[in-house]
Amino acid sequence: MTQTSPTIRVDQPGGADAMHLVDLPVGDPGPGEIRIRHHACGVNFIDVYQRSGVYPLPMPLSLGMEGAGVVEAVGEGVTHLKAGDRAAYASQPPGSYCTLRVMPAKCVVKLPDAIAFDTGAAMMLKGLTAQYLLKKTLPQGGLQAGDFVLFHAAAGGVGLIACQWARALGLRLIGTAGSDEKCALAREHGAAFTINYRREDFAARVREITGGAGVKVVYDSIGKDTWDKSLDCLRPFGLMASFGNASGVVPPFAVGTLGAKGSLYVTRATLFTHIATREATQAMADDLFAMVTRGQVKIRIDQRYALADVARAHRDLEARKTTGCSVLLP
Ligand SMILES: NC(=O)c1ccc[n+]([C@@H]2O[C@H](COP(=O)([O-])OP(=O)(O)OC[C@H]3O[C@@H](n4cnc5c(N)ncnc54)[C@H](OP(=O)(O)O)[C@@H]3O)[C@@H](O)[C@H]2O)c1
Repeated sequence: MTQTSPTIRVDQPGGADAMHLVDLPVGDPGPGEIRIRHHACGVNFIDVYQRSGVYPLPMPLSLGMEGAGVVEAVGEGVTHLKAGDRAAYASQPPGSYCTLRVMPAKCVVKLPDAIAFDTGAAMMLKGLTAQYLLKKTLPQGGLQAGDFVLFHAAAGGVGLIACQWARALGLRLIGTAGSDEKCALAREHGAAFTINYRREDFAARVREITGGAGVKVVYDSIGKDTWDKSLDCLRPFGLMASFGNASGVVPPFAVGTLGAKGSLYVTRATLFTHIATREATQAMADDLFAMVTRGQVKIRIDQRYALADVARAHRDLEARKTTGCSVLLP
């Protein structure tokens, strides 16, 4: 008998109301696939870009790129997972906002027993992102203990993980956030300095904090609103690591600006390049799991919603009302 699963779908790009709960059939996994029953699903800003059409995808679209649960069945050729395993993932294609799904096994990893399902669902996409940013998205010569980096939205899902990871690496992370309360939270989690960028000129403050030198890397997920000033925070040969567009997409820019501001480097990084293979995904996940099980990175779930309440989860995220991670409970 075919099973069905409550699933969040979008028929046409739009606002939070464009999401609907529908019941979809779920079959058996094919070659290279698994069927997983979710205990929790992560909410990420990329889900907003996909829902609203900032990242255009074929419609109708099942949303969600992060989840954790129990493997129910594995398809031919899947050897790293078996029925009954606890598992978690950050993965293409979207479709994690549901109870049950069939999906490619490649980016799914076993979840250590010490990590709860909701934590696993909250941390995979955001934690693997913090991992590749701080450990692989580096300026010439790398980063050493004591170096300054600037991290925008430091009290958010990726942000609070990055604050803790940067502290563990000995980096001096300057975090920006949209309120004094969020700034305090980022400091509690390891930011060496914080700037409330709703009321302070963050480029001027970064110059002050670094004694005029600037930072080696800016990790910028805000996009349109912060791009220009972020370039002004960098020291010569510094790296502008753009990895998101919460305020809107960065408009085209004159490449000569990078010369004028000190032979700067720019990358537009995405997790999905880093987790293109199973081996790379597992290695990054092992690093993340070690940080979490040792207690060096704590995963804060500050918002929990029922699956059917997904519109509220998106509205809260877009309205900058959230801190740390958000999960949906199917
Ligand atoms: N490229 C990748 O591989 C990758 C992977 C994961 C995430 N990301 C990006 O990283 C960012 C963080 O993701 P997340 O899921 O952890 O979200 P989040 O940081 O929890 O939420 C986004 C935060 O951005 C800030 N923000 C500033 N201007 C905003 C605006 N106009 N509208 C909405 N938010 C605004 C808000 O914090 P304040 O109020 O403190 O400003 C808000 O809380 C997102 O841009 C996401 O797309 C990229």
